[in-house]
Amino acid sequence: MPELVIPDRKYMGTPATAPGPSGPQMLPAFAAIRRDPLQYLNHIWQTYGDVAQFPIPRPPSYLVSHPDAVKRVLVDRPREYSKETIQYKALSLVTGSGLLTALDPPWKEHRLMLQPAFHPRQLEPLVQQVESGVQRLLAQWSDLPDGALVDIEQAMLRVALETVGHALFTEDLSGDAAELTSATLDALEVVVARARVPITPPAWMPTPANRRLRRANTTLDAAVSRLVAARREGQSSSTPDVLDLLIAARNSDGQPLTEREIRDEIVTFIVAGHETVAAALTWSWALLAAHPQIQDQLHDEVSAAVTADALSLDQLSDLPFTRACVDEALRLYPPAWLITRKALSDDELAGAQIPAGALIIMSPWLVHRHPDFWSEPDSFIPSRFIDGSITRHAFIPFGNGLRLCIGRDFAYAEAIAVVARLATRFQLRYPEGKIIPDVNPSVTMRPIGGLHLQVSARGE
Ligand code: HEM
Repeated sequence: MPELVIPDRKYMGTPATAPGPSGPQMLPAFAAIRRDPLQYLNHIWQTYGDVAQFPIPRPPSYLVSHPDAVKRVLVDRPREYSKETIQYKALSLVTGSGLLTALDPPWKEHRLMLQPAFHPRQLEPLVQQVESGVQRLLAQWSDLPDGALVDIEQAMLRVALETVGHALFTEDLSGDAAELTSATLDALEVVVARARVPITPPAWMPTPANRRLRRANTTLDAAVSRLVAARREGQSSSTPDVLDLLIAARNSDGQPLTEREIRDEIVTFIVAGHETVAAALTWSWALLAAHPQIQDQLHDEVSAAVTADALSLDQLSDLPFTRACVDEALRLYPPAWLITRKALSDDELAGAQIPAGALIIMSPWLVHRHPDFWSEPDSFIPSRFIDGSITRHAFIPFGNGLRLCIGRDFAYAEAIAVVARLATRFQLRYPEGKIIPDVNPSVTMRPIGGLHLQVSARGE
């Protein structure tokens, strides 16, 4: 990167402490940001380097892209950087004070209470559940003519929703779980649409979007109430699911979670654990279909390691290349492409003075392509995750430090199981003339126009 001189600028009394675009340059950029925020961030990084400042006075806002500086924020000084940011405030309109958006307190206490739900022993039933979801998909695909075009993104969204739904509620026959899930996704859509418009009416104004959000939240509250009441009346599932664990959880004073707290955690898990995993799976296939030799290598690994009819948790650790393919997809298309924090005290990041109150914007998409840490950063090379050459803190698809994703092992188990199962039986490729779709960065990274691949059965 070229050496950059920090211009002598001030934004309404806030001095510039890092290079970045000027106010007049920023105005015409708003349309570009709305159209493709990721490309814009990439442009800012390429032009101004590892710490860039936007011409915004309140709060002073920085794009931080150097892995060492990101590590300082997330791992070395997590208590000096809070989640009190615009991004998380918007999300909390749906998730309330669930784990993802919670400030500390009460975050730490809740994390300790919820950790048992993500213990490795919970993963075995998860793999069994994934297995039955994938078997349904395999049966559908087996009925298709050779080379049929399949909407892979929708298929992966369905598998991911079934899996997270099952982990939360096992089999809920009342339909409340289904209602709760669809209301959560509805509310999320409103919040995402709001974030795309620079000026949004306050939440109390009766605009159509706000009314839709309120309706979805009312449905959510009622469905959670009924689900919790039914469980308290003894309709427990055979193996404890996340809802059972939330109802049984006690804080350090021996107090159970309130109904509101249970609602917020359930909604958080649906928001955090559905589209993210589906995106990881979709982009894994988008990349594997573009690299048939790598797809064949993955197929060979799975065929050699998995002989039993049903996949088990143990077998997943015998699939290092499959995991490497998922990792490489997470590197190139990190579903959570934006992580933000608010600086609580003055600091220095990659040589730039950061004032208390500043907004720190970090994008795993950029960190994962930093040329000092990744060779051929834009290429799909899964083997880099096997030969031990990666620098751990330059790979942050699940965040890092104290607020590392609680669902990371859950996501890996699910993604590896789905990719492995589908790869043993089918080959996926692009129709003639089609290539990897462009990306639409929303809550997660979605392929523009979806992902439609041709599916052919592999010979036994
Ligand atoms: C490929 C899939 C996934 C990706 C890429 C992903 C990504 C992330 C990232 C980047 C964070 C940290 C955000 C930050 O520091 O600001 C996070 C946190 C979190 N994730 Fe995930 N996630 C995935 C799957 C899941 C699943 C399956 C669940 C639950 C079922 C989940 C639940 C959470 C929760 C509750 C947090 C907040 C943790 C805390 O602050 O204590 N995630 N995730």
